[in-house]
Amino acid sequence: MNETVQRTRADDGVIEALQVALGAGAVLSGADVPDRNARDWGHLPGIAPRAVVRPADPEGVAATLRICHAAGVPVVPQGGLTGLCGGARPVPGAVALSLERLNGIVELDPDSATMTVLAGTPLQVVQQAAEDAGFYFALDLGARGSCTIGGNLSTNAGGNRVIRYGMMRELVLGLQVALPDGTLVTSLNRMLKNNAGYDVKQLFIGSEGTLGVITQAVLRLHPKPRAQMAALCALADFPAVLRLLAGARSRLGPLLSAFEVMWPDYWQVATREVPGVRTPIAGDHGAYVLVEAQGMDEAIDGERFEAWLGAELEAGVLEDAAVARSLADIRAFWGTRDACAEFGLVLGPHVSFDIGLPVAKMDTFARASGAGLAAALPGCRSLHYGHIADGNMHIVAWVPGADPQPAETIEETVYDLVRSHGGTISAEHGIGLSKKHFLPYTRSPEELALMQALKRALDPQGLLNPGKVIDV
Ligand code: FAD
Ligand code: LAC
Ligand code: ZN
Repeated sequence: MNETVQRTRADDGVIEALQVALGAGAVLSGADVPDRNARDWGHLPGIAPRAVVRPADPEGVAATLRICHAAGVPVVPQGGLTGLCGGARPVPGAVALSLERLNGIVELDPDSATMTVLAGTPLQVVQQAAEDAGFYFALDLGARGSCTIGGNLSTNAGGNRVIRYGMMRELVLGLQVALPDGTLVTSLNRMLKNNAGYDVKQLFIGSEGTLGVITQAVLRLHPKPRAQMAALCALADFPAVLRLLAGARSRLGPLLSAFEVMWPDYWQVATREVPGVRTPIAGDHGAYVLVEAQGMDEAIDGERFEAWLGAELEAGVLEDAAVARSLADIRAFWGTRDACAEFGLVLGPHVSFDIGLPVAKMDTFARASGAGLAAALPGCRSLHYGHIADGNMHIVAWVPGADPQPAETIEETVYDLVRSHGGTISAEHGIGLSKKHFLPYTRSPEELALMQALKRALDPQGLLNPGKVIDV
């Protein structure tokens, strides 16, 4: 950074204006900027923001944007910083707008089965509040303790129960959003049906903080399931996985709430290298599935679940299966799937993927990408798992011992194959910064032009989360 830029920044009065508007305690600058605000969970190196602003109410968020907009200062929204593609990572000279103090449940309305929350509320707090009131908030993912509702909305998070309840987009009825110029738009609809004009909230869901900053949301609640069934299954190969999925859909119907597949390359690392992971499945198999169902009657639904699994065993679809007998079993089964959160510690630096493909192509793709990576980078290893019933596969790839990883070659190899298989480069984590270069692999020039037109309409100066997803 040259001296002129430094002097201009120091002299533009933005930090002082933010301190006056929000109170000195809400603005951390210089040496007080916490290290954690320099990066998200993705593999890109951190960049310290110029300041971290932590408003405690929606008006404070709007004021931050208004002040930065007037001064031409870029703003990067930050939730729980668990995003995996650099979306919340600061850009040089930016103010990080942290939603961490915008935290709390505003109202739970049992009649409309909705909960209005501030955007910085952690997902797990929302799940617990719903449960305490006899309801269920259906979004669930491994980062539940740290990620926030605003981050979940901005990335249109998916997670473990999309097959039954949909992605975050399906779990929200209203939003309050601060636009890049600081205008606060309150659209806290709590009706399931509302066709009065454009559904503008959809613009902000999944746009990764590039079009506005979400300050509040009206979330949709479901009835609390009274019965939860889970089984860990071992199968010979992927065709058997497809047969099991077809059986689960037709025999469990709407009860089916998760269908998570783990390839043997994932299973070996998760169950043998991640500390604390236990599995009741012995021996080596061609594929592993965690299947879960939620019902309203323990006796009837439990019986139906076990009868279905028994039939699949008899028909030779399953090689082995363990049915959960307790909540502790269910947690242990999910432990095999949540083990991927520890891969950073176990594998060291790696590159992770979140691709989408038609379900039937998954196994062919996994083989092609494993072989392609090993051919492009001798010694490169990869493992495969994910929300396969949603057509969403996660891949973790790495060259053991390499730091930094040859991320460019790894990404080009995998995304070339995604393109040739007609898939998407992101099924749930978003584009952020790390996948931006590959967006044209998945989106047509017309789609990209429309995205750019929307960005220009809402943020003509390109000051909100600049450089992420699409340029102005
Ligand atoms: P951040 O990382 O802080 O931000 C994410 C993006 O949203 C950034 O672009 C940021 O600028 C923007 N943003 C944040 N808050 C706001 C706001 N209030 N208004 C506007 N923009 C905002 N994701 C899935 O979809 N499915 C999974 O199964 C899943 N599992 C995960 C497991 C682990 C262990 C980890 C670490 C991550 C996982 N993720 C998953 C990714 C991540 O948790 C989600 O993307 C999550 O929704 C991000 O929330 P956050 O609050 O941490 O957002
Ligand atoms: C998961 C994250 C990586 O499904 O999306 O575990
Ligand atoms: Zn996922």
